[in-house]
Formats: sequence, structure tokens, C-alpha cells
Amino acid sequence: MNTSMYAIPADSSPFALNDDDAYQRWREQKLAETGLPAVVEINDPGDLQGVEQQTLLSTCERRNFAFFRIKEALGQTESALRALGRRFGLLDLDQNLCAEDSGLTAITVKPTDTDHIYIPYTNRPLGWHTDGYYNAGQHQVRAWLLFCAQPAAEGGANEIMDHEIAYIRLRDENPEWIEALMAPDAFTIPSNTEQGEEIRPDHSGPVFSVSPIDGSLHMRYSARQRNVIWKDDAPTREAAAFLLDLFKRGDDHIFRYRLNAGEGIISNNVLHRRDGFRDEPGAGSKRLMYRARYYQRLPVPREK
Ligand SMILES: [Fe+2]
Repeated sequence: MNTSMYAIPADSSPFALNDDDAYQRWREQKLAETGLPAVVEINDPGDLQGVEQQTLLSTCERRNFAFFRIKEALGQTESALRALGRRFGLLDLDQNLCAEDSGLTAITVKPTDTDHIYIPYTNRPLGWHTDGYYNAGQHQVRAWLLFCAQPAAEGGANEIMDHEIAYIRLRDENPEWIEALMAPDAFTIPSNTEQGEEIRPDHSGPVFSVSPIDGSLHMRYSARQRNVIWKDDAPTREAAAFLLDLFKRGDDHIFRYRLNAGEGIISNNVLHRRDGFRDEPGAGSKRLMYRARYYQRLPVPREK
């Protein structure tokens, strides 16, 4: 595997373990951002206004996620969401195994025609993860957009945690854990086989990496034990256990939100999970979300 995209942090980076000053300055700013960010109203996603765009991008610059609400009911949901992504300069949709042609994925309860049951397409809860954590090399999902066309009759709320806050919690507890999680073999994604054919080989990668393009922090993570094989050494095992415990005991930077119809999230691929839910299709309450994944991170707003 080409490991060059997993760059070692530059000296002036808050993510360099030998630069505590840069880390402390950045940490203070990050932790000062508290509370759920306000939902940004969008009049027309096909004609995003400057102020709407600036508010969303500056929130994402500080928090790595932002909520939006589209005021009008969308006629063509998929093309409207593609247009919205384009307005953010997000173009490279990740074509995952179940993506439909548009590059947007409709996430709803549906029968699967593969060997495996993909939990996103059931009504079951989804554990903490970042999107595309199983992707190798350059195919890192750096941003995603989630839009709620229809909530479930009951349940289906999301929880979100900026992955940079998870980094802070780990580093404050033990900087050696950060080193372990930045190792190129921190965890291994087992191969994926369908109908006897290997469609994805085993591959290893880091949990945390720093983008060589813009110095931003990227995280690959799944709390699901069967999805990843953690490196069998003490710091890696302890760091993985610490994260599980963090999610269990809670944190004032974990935010819970249940998207209403017309609401969505854009994010620099932060940690997230969802509750299980109950549909009532007869009453028009069948949960339908649209998701787009991007290889680019959201741009930094031009005007501040
Ligand atoms: Fe996800």
C-alpha cells in the first residue's frame, strides 16, 4: 500500500506530539466551542446564498459539522442535494458498494441482495464510526452530507462527536495512545467476500492521520469489534478501550439530534452513530435519509 498520504505532522502542527504549545492553543479554541450549533436555514439549495454558505462553512471550520434546514419541500431531492454539495466544492462522490448511480445513497430499510446484512439498511442501531473507515489509501472519506427526507415513526436519532475532540480526550489522557493510533498498522480491515469472490482484500491503516494537503486531522474508526482488527499491543488496545469507554460514559461534546424532514448535516467526517428506529410505512413514516460521501474536506470559508 502507498502510505505517503498518511503524512507525519509538520513541526508547527497542533497534531505534532513534540509541539505542546501549538496543541494547547488549538485545544483551548476547540473546547471553547460548546453546545449544539444552530441549524442554518437554506432557502433554495440550488441557489445557496453567500451568507448561508459562509455560516455553514465557518461552523464546519470550527466544529467539523453543521446542521441545515431546507425551508421549501424539495421537488427533486437527489439533484438538489448534488447541487448543494457542488456549491461547497464537493465533487468526488464515493461510489460505495451500495451506492446508486447518482452517487447519493438512499438509506432506508430495504431487503439486501448480497450475502451480508448491511446494518445501515435495517432499523437497527448503528455504532460509533466515521464513514468509509474501511477505505484504503487515497479513498479516504473526508466529508459527508446527510439529509432527512422522512424521519421514522419513532427513534433514529443521531449522536455526533467532532473527531478532533476525541483526539483531545485521548491525547490528554496519554499522548502515547495518539502515537499508537497514528501507526500505519493501527488497525486492519478484514477482507470482504461476497459469493465466494473477494471484493476487498485485508488492509491496514492508521486511525488518525494528518492531511499532507492542508494539515487537517482525519480519523478512521469503527466501534464494531468484528469490523476492525486492532493491533495487538498495549497502547493500541488501551486507546481502543478508552474510546469505547468515552462513548459509554458520555462527554459534553457528544451531541444528540433527531433530524426532522428537510434537515441535514454536513461534516468533515466526524464520529457519529444512530439509534434504532421503528417505521410505520402505512402512516407515511418510513425513515428515508440521503447520504453523499466526498473525498474532499469542506473548504475553509473565504470571507471571515
Ligand atoms: Fe455513517
